[in-house]
Amino acid sequence: MPCNRAGLGAGDRHRFGGAAYKARGSFEHNRPIFQMVSARRRSGKMRGDAIRSPRTEKKIMALADRFFIVAILFALAGMTLGIWMGITGPEVFNYAAVHAHINLAGWATLFLCGLWYRGAPAASSTGLAKAHFWIAVVGAILLVIGIVGAVMPNATLDKVVIPGSLLTLLAMVIFLVLVARHRSA
Ligand code: HEM
Repeated sequence: MPCNRAGLGAGDRHRFGGAAYKARGSFEHNRPIFQMVSARRRSGKMRGDAIRSPRTEKKIMALADRFFIVAILFALAGMTLGIWMGITGPEVFNYAAVHAHINLAGWATLFLCGLWYRGAPAASSTGLAKAHFWIAVVGAILLVIGIVGAVMPNATLDKVVIPGSLLTLLAMVIFLVLVARHRSA
């Protein structure tokens, strides 16, 4: 429940770093701050610890959305392969490992990373996060190509699994660094 005329609740003192409360004076004096805060809360844009500029907000959304879009593309590919395997029958179940890695290294992992970035605004705008995105995506693609190479008769692409798995591992190490640096209090 709002506890004053500006519509701010008790928890807002902490959420906005006390910004609206530090400035002493009348309600009229603080009206711009209260209006900005209230508008952003109404629009559902308040998630972090501070009021963010629209530019930062856009960057954060862009990184999380990039993770989501690539993850969904992996899911579509993995499900299509799964349907094909199901229709064709057990003789193509050697592709189950490809299907599993598209779905787990691609869809599940990238989607989970995207979710974390949605909740970690400060991390999302860093160069390391951008590097994480590209290394994870390229790693997952190469990993899948390498596994296709390994399960296909007359395999030629199986060596691609080496850079694919190393990049996937590196992406996870970068993610660990980001999570450790930006962990919640
Ligand atoms: C349209 C959706 C899907 C279809 C039609 C499908 C179909 C299949 C088929 C036919 C198999 C092989 C079964 C066997 O080896 O006995 C399989 C295995 C598997 N699927 Fe799916 N699947 C789907 C979605 C998913 C998703 C979303 C995930 C994970 C996020 C997933 C993970 C796995 C795993 C881990 C295996 C076992 C792989 C292995 O044994 O090496 N699948 N799936």
